[in-house]
Amino acid sequence: MPNIALLGSTGSIGTQAIEVIQGLPDYTIVSLAAGSNEALLREQIEKLNPQYAALQRPDAAARVRQQVAIPVSHGMEGLVQLATDPQVDLVINAVVGAAGLAPTLAALRAGKRVALANKETLVAGGHLVMAYRDQLIPIDSEHSALWQCLRGHTMDEVASLVLTASGGPFRKYQGELHTVTRAQALRHPNWEMGGKITIDSATLMNKGLEVIEAHWLFGASYDQIEVVVHPQSIVHSLVKMKDGSYLAHLGAADMRLPIQYAITYPHCRPATSIPLDLTTAGPLEFEAPDEQRFPCLPLAYAAGRAGGSVPAVLNAANEVAVEYFLNDRLGFMEIPVIVESVLEGHAPIDSPDLDTILAVDAQARQQARQEAEQRARL
Ligand SMILES: NC(=O)c1ccc[n+]([C@@H]2O[C@H](COP(=O)([O-])OP(=O)(O)OC[C@H]3O[C@@H](n4cnc5c(N)ncnc54)[C@H](OP(=O)(O)O)[C@@H]3O)[C@@H](O)[C@H]2O)c1
Repeated sequence: MPNIALLGSTGSIGTQAIEVIQGLPDYTIVSLAAGSNEALLREQIEKLNPQYAALQRPDAAARVRQQVAIPVSHGMEGLVQLATDPQVDLVINAVVGAAGLAPTLAALRAGKRVALANKETLVAGGHLVMAYRDQLIPIDSEHSALWQCLRGHTMDEVASLVLTASGGPFRKYQGELHTVTRAQALRHPNWEMGGKITIDSATLMNKGLEVIEAHWLFGASYDQIEVVVHPQSIVHSLVKMKDGSYLAHLGAADMRLPIQYAITYPHCRPATSIPLDLTTAGPLEFEAPDEQRFPCLPLAYAAGRAGGSVPAVLNAANEVAVEYFLNDRLGFMEIPVIVESVLEGHAPIDSPDLDTILAVDAQARQQARQEAEQRARL
C-alpha cells in the first residue's frame, strides 16, 4: 500500500490526482497540503481521512485544526514536514510556483519518490534537484510523453526533444495582444488548468518553462530542445531520433493520464478517462511558434542557456507579472516587458544553493512588483 503525500491538493492537478488515487485502491493518501482554500481542504480531510494536513498561513491552519481531528501545520515548514514524513513513499507536488522547490528537495533528500507537476521546481533549482533524478517522475503531459517515448533509449540516440504547444487562445488572434483581457487569456482552447499556468500558456512562457524543465529532466542541451505548435493537443510531445525518425506519444488531453502514470510508474494501468479515438481525432497540424508575438518563449530559452540563478529570476518575475495581469492591473504584453527588465537588472550567480535561490527569488519578486506598480492600472 504505497503512502502518498499530496501537496497542492486543492488545485487543478491536486483535485485530479485525488480522483486518480480514488481509482487506485492499493494507494493511500496520508497527508494533504493546500495554500489558502480552507473550505475545500476541510472537505477533502473529511472525505479522505488523511493523518496530517497543512495550509499556507498559521491563522488558517489554526482554524481548520479546530474543525478536524488531525494535526494541521502551516507554511514551508508544514510542506517540508509532510514531504519528509517517514511513512510516505510518494510525494505528489502539485503546488504552483517557486514555493514547490523546497518541499521537492526535502522529499528527494529524504529518499522519497516525487511525482512532479510543479515545473517551477526544475526551473528555479534544476541543478539541485538533478542529483536525485532517479527519484523524480514528471507529471507535466509533455514531459510524461517524452519520458514514456524515451523508455529503453538513451540520449545518445536522440537528435532532439520536441515539445508540443497548443499555441494558447491567441494563436490565430488578429487583434492587438496589448488589449486582450484576463477573461480572453483564461479561455484555453484544450486544457482546464489553474489560472497561472493558463496565462503562461497564453504567453508561451509555459512552454519556455517546460524547455528548462526538459533540459534538467532529460539532460538535453538547449539546442536539442525544440518547440512546435500543435493546436489539437493530441500529440503530447515527440522524440526525434538520430536516424531522423520520430517517436510520438498521443492521447486525450486529460491530465489524469500523466498523473496516473507518474503514480503507478513503471506500470501502466487501465484509466477511467475516455480514450483517444484516432478515427475521429481529425487532422493533426504542426507549425513553428511565433517568437515575435510571444517573446516569453525566447526569453525563457535565453534564461535557460544563461543558467545559474537566471531561470529563478525569470520564474519569479513572471509569477509576479502574471499575478498583476490576473488582478486586471497589467496588460498582457507587459508580462514579457517586466520579465525582461528584471532579468536585465540581475547579476547572475553560478550554481546557487537553495538559500541563494530563495534570496534571488525574493529580490526578483520585489523588483518585479516595483516595476509592475509603476505600470499598474489603479
Ligand atoms: N493544471 C494543469 O493541467 C497542469 C499541467 C501541467 C503542469 N501543471 C503544473 O502543476 C502545478 C500546479 O498547477 P495547477 O494548475 O494545479 O495550479 P492551481 O490550480 O493554481 O493549484 C495550485 C495549488 O497549489 C496550492 N498552493 C499555492 N501556493 C501554495 C503554498 N505556498 N503552499 C501550499 N500550497 C500552495 C494551492 O492551494 P489553494 O488553492 O488552497 O490556495 C493549490 O492547491 C504548477 O506548477 C503547474 O505549472 C499544471
